[in-house]
Amino acid sequence: MVILSPSILAADFKRLGEQVSRLDKSGAEFIHIDVMDGNFVPNISLGFPVIKSIREITKKVFDVHLMIEQPSKYIDEFIACGADMITIHYEADKHIDRTINYIKSKGCKVGIALNPGTPTCVIKDLIPQLDMVLIMSVNPGFGGQKFIEYSKDKIKEVSLMAKNIGKDLLIEVDGGVDPTNIKSLVECGANVLVAGSAVFKDDKIEENIDNLRKAL
Ligand code: DX5
Ligand code: ZN
Repeated sequence: MVILSPSILAADFKRLGEQVSRLDKSGAEFIHIDVMDGNFVPNISLGFPVIKSIREITKKVFDVHLMIEQPSKYIDEFIACGADMITIHYEADKHIDRTINYIKSKGCKVGIALNPGTPTCVIKDLIPQLDMVLIMSVNPGFGGQKFIEYSKDKIKEVSLMAKNIGKDLLIEVDGGVDPTNIKSLVECGANVLVAGSAVFKDDKIEENIDNLRKAL
């Protein structure tokens, strides 16, 4: 099964409620929420109040991608706001094992994200504890960037690592995903596809989601 996780970073924020309601009725399984702190990445996006508000209009899985330094400080609050799954960056936490265990102890699903320049070997020992690995296929911080081709090798590597230990792992790809490359990403082993621009383009959310699904 392939999961679609539209990124609301590309939404029209003055109509966020309406657009999230449309995602709620769509065939997408997750909603990807990009949190940026202007420190880990050179951009600032949204935070607790926004997540809390949209939690009231959908029961879809909130796939919260934290592009923030020291994510361990804010886990409780993200869970309180309605996160179902929290993904933290390998590069942003000195005590990643502790944070993974903390998130799990709160009954929340946990993922680790890797920047394009971070090799997959660093998560080898962590995979047994994870629900998801997120391969960044652009440098995090902005929507609408070009897909980095070597990310495909990294998807294959993580897929093989999971297979080698018989682990059922979610492998998410984030950045530059569109109908032209989505199929090849699934063939490499991805099973959760994030798409921002490709979903919100021309305000044709339903049609764009259908087109991503049809391209699989
Ligand atoms: C980038 C974010 C992505 C982004 C994807 O830092 O993590 O989730 O919104 O946007 P597109 O699909 O436009 O590349
Ligand atoms: Zn993201």
